[in-house]
Amino acid sequence: MTTIGILGVGGLAELMVRGLQGSGYRILLSPRGAQASARLAAAYGCEVAESNQAVVDGADGVFVSLPAATGAEELARLSFRPGQPVLSAMAGTGLARLQSVIGRARGAVAMMPGYANALRMGPSILYPEDGFWRDFLSKVGPVHGCDDEKTFTAAATFGAFSGATVGWMAHVIGWFEAQGLPANTARALVAGTLRGNAEVLLREDRPLDDIARGVTTPGGITELLLATLAGREALAAWDEGLDRVLTRIGGEPISSKKSDRSL
Ligand SMILES: NC(=O)c1ccc[n+]([C@@H]2O[C@H](COP(=O)([O-])OP(=O)(O)OC[C@H]3O[C@@H](n4cnc5c(N)ncnc54)[C@H](OP(=O)(O)O)[C@@H]3O)[C@@H](O)[C@H]2O)c1
Repeated sequence: MTTIGILGVGGLAELMVRGLQGSGYRILLSPRGAQASARLAAAYGCEVAESNQAVVDGADGVFVSLPAATGAEELARLSFRPGQPVLSAMAGTGLARLQSVIGRARGAVAMMPGYANALRMGPSILYPEDGFWRDFLSKVGPVHGCDDEKTFTAAATFGAFSGATVGWMAHVIGWFEAQGLPANTARALVAGTLRGNAEVLLREDRPLDDIARGVTTPGGITELLLATLAGREALAAWDEGLDRVLTRIGGEPISSKKSDRSL
């Protein structure tokens, strides 16, 4: 049985462990945060190692979900085996930085939404391509390999996009509630609408612009809402926010090419 060691047992680790349940991996957790590790051990049959080094020593591959600000420094204190697969999910820690602190181990970087992975529906991005980690990530959602690090870093902004869409849904659900809809109806309506539209984009073979046109009656209510959002620069604000996230995680936004697809 393949053993995955997890360094950093916080929010992401718990969601990944939940999604990996029944996938056939043995999971070995780092000991810090004894309560969380003990809870995961009891709920999902994980094991807890005595130290971070014991996680590395006892694992075939190491999944790193340490805090982005300090994780690389912690990795530098550990000894990895030559060729040992190490996957970092730490936002903003690029492959070169990861590789510089894991010696001759085999580094790769990934990003995923987190919560959706607990339901095995969260897409991941992976760089460079690595069969060990592709198999692992595919247990918790579809995996998209990236051809180069620049593309990976740009794609990794989707981690923020993912969380922001939850905040956006919560905002819109609040609007429906304020109009008198029961909270559970508002939540089901908003989430179900987005799920349905997401399935349309995933399953229909038509060009995106055709689909967007098809849902926008000229002079109709969708056009009214989009025009209102555009008039307040709400759509352009998504570009600005993504630019800022990309800059934060070490990328260089191509700011001149703004998306105007939905206008
Ligand atoms: N949350 C997500 O959905 C998500 C998705 C994609 C990527 N990520 C990335 O995953 C990483 C973790 O995010 P998170 O939300 O799970 O953060 P988190 O809840 O703060 O988890 C990080 C965990 O690492 C522990 N830790 C800190 N230093 C450690 C050390 N030296 N040795 C062992 N454990 C240590 C922390 O313990 P203490 O609390 O005791 O400090 C905490 O339990 C971040 O780098 C983030 O960018 C998160």
